[in-house]
Amino acid sequence: MAKDVIIACDFDSAEKTYNFLDLFENERPFVKIGMELFYAEGPQIAKEIKKRGHKIFLDLKLHDIPNTVKKAMAVLSKLDVDMVNVHAAGTANMMKAAVEGLTRADGTRPLIVAVTQLTSTDEESLKEELLIDKPMEEVVMYYADNARKAGLDGVVCSPLEAAAVHAKCGENFITVTPGVRFEEGDRGDQKRVTTPAEARRIGSDYIVMGRPITAAADPVATYIRAKKEFTGE
Ligand code: C5P
Repeated sequence: MAKDVIIACDFDSAEKTYNFLDLFENERPFVKIGMELFYAEGPQIAKEIKKRGHKIFLDLKLHDIPNTVKKAMAVLSKLDVDMVNVHAAGTANMMKAAVEGLTRADGTRPLIVAVTQLTSTDEESLKEELLIDKPMEEVVMYYADNARKAGLDGVVCSPLEAAAVHAKCGENFITVTPGVRFEEGDRGDQKRVTTPAEARRIGSDYIVMGRPITAAADPVATYIRAKKEFTGE
């Protein structure tokens, strides 16, 4: 499994995004486009970033009836992005439909991973609002395994959960993990964090880092440092 650092480009305009990406002369980082940037700029932003030679994780977290998700995924697949995601809560039927929609006529498709439970959901809201009476870890592992059975490639999870996900779903089941900070870094609003080196030790396949890189004084040097710590190369 290729380990890589994905930079969360949480900018609100194409201009800010290109100004940031222009800093990288010799590197072509894997880029995450989230809802903010996609809704601000539309599909064109994915096409342009792809044209510049970056791999793209399109983080739109689809969750709707299977037919709608299937058709939406067929559209996203044409953008030639490298990774997309859905909410596992949409059920196995929805996830299977997502894979079907994503698969191109030649049999190729982007990677597809599932969000199990959002890290913003705590045990209390799981129980009191979602009426799920099981412990969070059990829910996350069950949803991950459901995603695997539906044919997905992996999950988005905390780096702290990566080893347990691999134990349950296999070493080849991808773990994409946000919540990564440097040892001395500001944690921002992330609570359960690890360093890139710890994420590697626990078994993350891809780490997602936003502000520690995008807000750094020298984003390129910071990205290279993250990559070195994470891949151990
Ligand atoms: O700036 P920071 O490194 O915290 O960015 C992390 C990125 O990963 C953000 O784009 C955030 O929306 C995303 N993310 C997350 N936690 C999740 C799922 C996605 O932080 N559970």
